[in-house]
Amino acid sequence: MTAPALHDPAPSDLLPRGLALADFLAGSWGKEIVHGRSDSKAVGLLDVPALEEVLRYNVLRFPYVFMSKDRARLPVEKYCSNRRVFSYQQEGYLDGEKAVAALAGGASLYLNHLEDWHPAFGRYLDSWHPLPVAKVVANAFVTPAGTQAVGRHWDDSHNFILQTAGSKRWRIYAPPAAPHPDMTAEDLKTELLLDTVLEPGDVIYFPPAFPHEAEGSDGLSVHLTFAAYEIMPTLVLQSLVPALDTVQSWKRLDPHLLDPRARAEQSMSLIREAMEAIGPDPVVEAWGGRRKQVSLASLTGDFSATSSQGPAGGTRG
Ligand SMILES: [Fe+2]
Repeated sequence: MTAPALHDPAPSDLLPRGLALADFLAGSWGKEIVHGRSDSKAVGLLDVPALEEVLRYNVLRFPYVFMSKDRARLPVEKYCSNRRVFSYQQEGYLDGEKAVAALAGGASLYLNHLEDWHPAFGRYLDSWHPLPVAKVVANAFVTPAGTQAVGRHWDDSHNFILQTAGSKRWRIYAPPAAPHPDMTAEDLKTELLLDTVLEPGDVIYFPPAFPHEAEGSDGLSVHLTFAAYEIMPTLVLQSLVPALDTVQSWKRLDPHLLDPRARAEQSMSLIREAMEAIGPDPVVEAWGGRRKQVSLASLTGDFSATSSQGPAGGTRG
């Protein structure tokens, strides 16, 4: 598939026309819903023809792809088949014909972590303007008219929605005072802040914890969600674990220390010491979220081909 040239690195192009990224970050980021018509070229990354190509040519398996109906996950065999590659029989690859039949029966299709397997999305996310986030994940939702892929819920990410095909009705509500994962759809029926139908090119941004729900309104609806996850202590910890592993502070625990509490205290003190020694660099590096550079220059002898810039003009290699 041909990747369109993306001249405005995200998320600038995912904002309504005329809204500058600096103004958005200063005024709306983390605070309020932004909604309008964009000029995002990313619409072409997954419009209906591009989706058809993905359905025809792919090596996608669960959980990069899954389908649901009536808000319950479909069994994998409803949209995946076995494939024979040389003499190897392999299970569970996305089967385009089955997926289309399931869509026709009212199921929704999710394509997840597009940046992991779709080069154009990988380049697109590599070109994101630096935001105070740990990572950005791109997911696509394909929903037949009149159906709802997911019930009313909230996410812990900043969400940028871009409609790429068909239309979809979105309702977004005021964040509850104390959002909790166990809250029901009924608990989340707070003040309705936005009720609108998105057409291709339309965008919505909403901050974490804003309950939302969407329903396909006309034709087959395709929308992209770019979920930006903030830098949070739990993510810091995840990034630190590999670095802490290299310290192997467990080797330095006093073998005669048998009391569990005393061992825990000594362990925590060694971890604190190790964290001081490690510093923030490995964590910041892990947050960069940039794909590791892969270069064949040393094999091809073409040392001018080491630029990390894709067609989007990304500079954070
Ligand atoms: Fe969501």
